[in-house]
Amino acid sequence: MKTDYKSIMLIRTPEREDFTEVKAICEDRFGKGYIKEEEFNRWITDDKYCKVADLGGKVIGIVYLMPDKIKNVARALKLDESYIEDMSGGKNVIRSRCAAIDKDYENMGISDTLHREIFSNISPDDFGAIIAPAWTYNGYTPMAKPLKEYGFELFGERENLWYNMEEYECIICGGRCKCTAAIYIKKL
Ligand SMILES: CC(C)(COP(=O)(O)OP(=O)(O)OC[C@H]1O[C@@H](n2cnc3c(N)ncnc32)[C@H](O)[C@@H]1OP(=O)(O)O)[C@@H](O)C(=O)NCCC(=O)NCCS
Repeated sequence: MKTDYKSIMLIRTPEREDFTEVKAICEDRFGKGYIKEEEFNRWITDDKYCKVADLGGKVIGIVYLMPDKIKNVARALKLDESYIEDMSGGKNVIRSRCAAIDKDYENMGISDTLHREIFSNISPDDFGAIIAPAWTYNGYTPMAKPLKEYGFELFGERENLWYNMEEYECIICGGRCKCTAAIYIKKL
């Protein structure tokens, strides 16, 4: 029988000391140079929206849903600012920034548990929408099914969304990332 890691793992806000393990997971799943330490140290200040799964002291997954201003999200995701403004009623939005689970612990509901924990901290009083750029490669979008289950709808696609991350070497592209993002949106 498969071990139910969900029942024994701890969901917590990451600490600075977790960077090495988070980096190893992100580099294995996305590619070298995906995450810098100073950036991670900013992520973890969003303590309600950045969570790791901790199994006996070892980090086995991270999800970060980043609160952001409309104009920043529009720029980062190549979306029309006035469209987001209308959709979110002018409130700030949450942008899905990172979801990565250690390969050895995949398909066990770890990402699902982390997402649901963070969703429970997102108040519609504070945010108008959640926007998720879902990584798409070889015709496959790993997060498509869960996002639909969470009530997201597909808005459209954006090519080369991560190309401007100069130091990131995508495991699919073998260099600068030319992958497409499927943009999913959930109005709150
Ligand atoms: C995409 C990713 C984050 C999903 O993480 P995960 O922990 O494996 O996801 P979950 O286990 O929560 O859900 C994935 C599958 O497991 C199933 N699942 C959920 N709970 C489960 C449980 N208790 N036991 C078994 N399976 C379960 C889900 O139904 C889902 O299967 P389905 O897609 O066939 O419905 C992970 O595969 C990953 O890191 N991939 C590489 C990086 C990546 O693509 N990140 C997303 C960028 S947008």
